[in-house]
Amino acid sequence: MSVSMLRSSLSFLFWLTIVLALGIGGLLAYIYSGVYDVSAIKQHTPLTYWVLSTARRQSIKAHTTGESPLDLADADVRARGLLLFDRHCRQCHGAPGVAPDAIGLGMNPSPPNFAQMGRDLPASEIYWAVSNGIKLTGMPAWEFRLNESERWAIVAFLKSSPTLAPAEYKDRRTRLLSTTLNETTPHSPDAFWKPEDATRRGQVAVQQYACPTCHVIPGIRGPDAQVGPPLEGIATRIYLAGVLLNTPANMIEWVRNPQAIKPLSAMPNLGVTERDARDIAAYLYTLR
Ligand code: HEC
Ligand code: HEC
Repeated sequence: MSVSMLRSSLSFLFWLTIVLALGIGGLLAYIYSGVYDVSAIKQHTPLTYWVLSTARRQSIKAHTTGESPLDLADADVRARGLLLFDRHCRQCHGAPGVAPDAIGLGMNPSPPNFAQMGRDLPASEIYWAVSNGIKLTGMPAWEFRLNESERWAIVAFLKSSPTLAPAEYKDRRTRLLSTTLNETTPHSPDAFWKPEDATRRGQVAVQQYACPTCHVIPGIRGPDAQVGPPLEGIATRIYLAGVLLNTPANMIEWVRNPQAIKPLSAMPNLGVTERDARDIAAYLYTLR
């Protein structure tokens, strides 16, 4: 390599470093200045809107797997889906002749209308979005709230919803609410996890039950919450909450219903299922 080539590649590297440093510095200054307006009342710019909605559509398409184990055209499956949709989704997405609640109206991005989703989205994409939720939008994940067949039943309802007249929806809903279909089946999330995944699944469950909103937990990014004690080293603690011997069985019992053990405890019953509590305990016992 000649001296002049060396010189020109060194000067290229020099300017590249300067440009990168300025770029990173500018980005940090922008973030820390607070100039960016997070208000949900302000629209996104056309570019931001395009980036976010395209990324969401493409991501969902790329991640979907599997077909429904249920017959989505079955009237009972759809009926079950109608009730579940009414209880968990209508608040944000509306239903035939029924508006979303206040919580769904003030959101940005706005939750899409049920009929639009039912018409435009393939069943497998709806199923994926319902199971996993969508980051940064307010769309919750339902994998830890509803079991596989409940989620597919909701898909069945959504696919049938664009042709459901408001009067018919109202009529079916009233009729269904007075039948046994109203009973929820115990939720046991499945398809996405194998038995040997317990610890990893427990880590996800910890987030899905909002534990980091009160506890600082190693391995989980969250606010620096001091509502409850930090859980670092919980595996080596002798007592739980000062009253229970720290055994796996007691841990599961505590996580599922703390107030049954300590009635005045500020830790609420979060409706943690038996399996989820077992996996959460498996994760917590990795925190030495
Ligand atoms: C708290 C409000 C809220 C609830 C409750 C909610 N969603 Fe959503 N949902 C959203 C938002 C917000 C989006 C994202 C919209 C966007 O990015 O444009 C969304 C997106 C979706 C999508 C993806 C749409 C697409 O075009 O990719 C589906 C499917 C969906 N929701 C179905 C459901 C179902 C079924 C339920 C009930 C089990 C439900 N949602 C409950 C707010 C909600
Ligand atoms: C609303 C806040 C809140 C949430 C949410 C919450 N906790 Fe707690 N947690 C507490 C408080 C407060 C205590 C202390 C309770 C006491 O001693 O009575 C506690 C105590 C504990 C303890 C005993 C800690 C020790 O040092 O002995 C464990 C373990 C625990 N929580 C796990 C969890 C898990 C797992 C979750 C999620 C499933 C969770 N918590 C969700 C508030 C919360």
